[in-house]
Amino acid sequence: MADYEENKQKNSFTLFSNETGKSYDLPVIKGTEGPDVLDIRKLYEETGMFTYDPGFTSTASCDSSITFIDGNKGVLRHRGYDIHELATNSEFLEVCYLLLHGDLPSPEDKNKFKEVIRNHTMLHEQLVYLYRGFRRDAHPMAIMVGVVGALSAFYHDSTDFSDIKQRMIACHRLIAKIPTIGAMAYKYSIGQPFVYPRNDLSYTENFLYMTFSVPTREFKISKKIVKAMDRFFILHADHEQNASTSTVRLAGSSGANPFACIAAGIASLWGPAHGGANEAVIKMLEEIGDVKNIPEFINKAKNKKDPFRLMGFGHRVYKNYDPRAIVMKESAHEVLEELNKLDDPLLKIAIELEKIALKDEFFIEKKLFPNVDFYSGIILKALGFPTSMFTVLFAIGRTVGWISQWKEMIEDPINKIGRPRQLYLGQKTRQFQSESTREKKSIFKWLWK
Ligand code: ACO
Repeated sequence: MADYEENKQKNSFTLFSNETGKSYDLPVIKGTEGPDVLDIRKLYEETGMFTYDPGFTSTASCDSSITFIDGNKGVLRHRGYDIHELATNSEFLEVCYLLLHGDLPSPEDKNKFKEVIRNHTMLHEQLVYLYRGFRRDAHPMAIMVGVVGALSAFYHDSTDFSDIKQRMIACHRLIAKIPTIGAMAYKYSIGQPFVYPRNDLSYTENFLYMTFSVPTREFKISKKIVKAMDRFFILHADHEQNASTSTVRLAGSSGANPFACIAAGIASLWGPAHGGANEAVIKMLEEIGDVKNIPEFINKAKNKKDPFRLMGFGHRVYKNYDPRAIVMKESAHEVLEELNKLDDPLLKIAIELEKIALKDEFFIEKKLFPNVDFYSGIILKALGFPTSMFTVLFAIGRTVGWISQWKEMIEDPINKIGRPRQLYLGQKTRQFQSESTREKKSIFKWLWK
């Protein structure tokens, strides 16, 4: 954990107020890589002013040593390791260990870690009744938010996270149980029997087994498909302080238990501007329907008056090709080749759309490149997942990132409850109006219709 006092640079940044004629020195803190930050913790005390940054475009909400992104260069590293190297040479559980503990595991630790995760793959049997309480047509993300939140009602012996043992058990339980939870949400929505985990299979093969096997047939899956799914999980494992991770940290800063915090993260991930984008990409490609219709959709995306956006394009941090999208594109080709689906019409539309957009002045000027979601939906669809499961798969991969970031925050001695302030633009104080003096007609007619 970075020590602010040690890390504080000698240099500072001077703010000058035209109003008071006073100047204020803000200390500058230097990270190991990436932009330095202005330490504004004393700003309000000294100036009586807040900073204003809706969407946190210029705000570092914490310090972290888990993930580094250079959005301009298209760099993503976990604990110093490049994402391309991890996705090519590593397996997902190794990356989980790396995110949680800071380094790649020794062979002995790797075996131990796998064994510990295997020990936690089952869900409390009572949770089956919770699933049965949902409508069959419930979105699997809705089920996931509910079931993950409910884990805190079942695993009381790992909610006291001030105890390092309980804290670690909660981390292991979440990583181990999330594929079981996701697979059960899917099985429930299609009316098939739940499939219990098999601990003789690898983490990812077990997930595919729980999702796609049925009691009436032998389950077989190719190694290449298992590898592609494992790589999908690696590519989604962590992405520093994005919306869902920040949600997990904010929920956790109040002392909420880890299961409740991860449920909050899943809720945040669900939105189409975040994890829901992979689902939206497939819908968009289907709507485009044919390569010849691409220019029409490109024009819609460029039209300021049209709310349509090219889904799977653009990123708050990457102003270059998302490095995860490069691997995902390679993976899409491998999967479709393995499944004999290289003539997939959606892949053709996606490749052509990418080509046209990357040459278009609008996208060049706004630095809009394909993000991780652009090709992931094509892989998932080819593997047989319905679009409603896409964000669930993202959540399975991201759970380790959320829990590692939560753990880092809990273990940080300067951990404080997250409590942003605001620029108030509402009414100043006014006298209470008695009912007889108020407007006689409804001012909210549309609401009562
Ligand atoms: N299509 C067309 N125009 C776009 C797109 C897009 N996909 N993305 C951004 N723009 C334009 C905006 O209209 C805006 O134009 P303006 O400056 O003329 O107003 C400009 O580019 C900047 O866009 P913002 O929305 O301000 O950028 P922000 O950083 O807030 O948003 C976001 C990033 C939400 C990802 C955005 O690019 C988007 O909506 N993309 C499509 C959804 C998507 O793919 N989300 C997945 C993100 S990756 C992930 O969560 C795993």
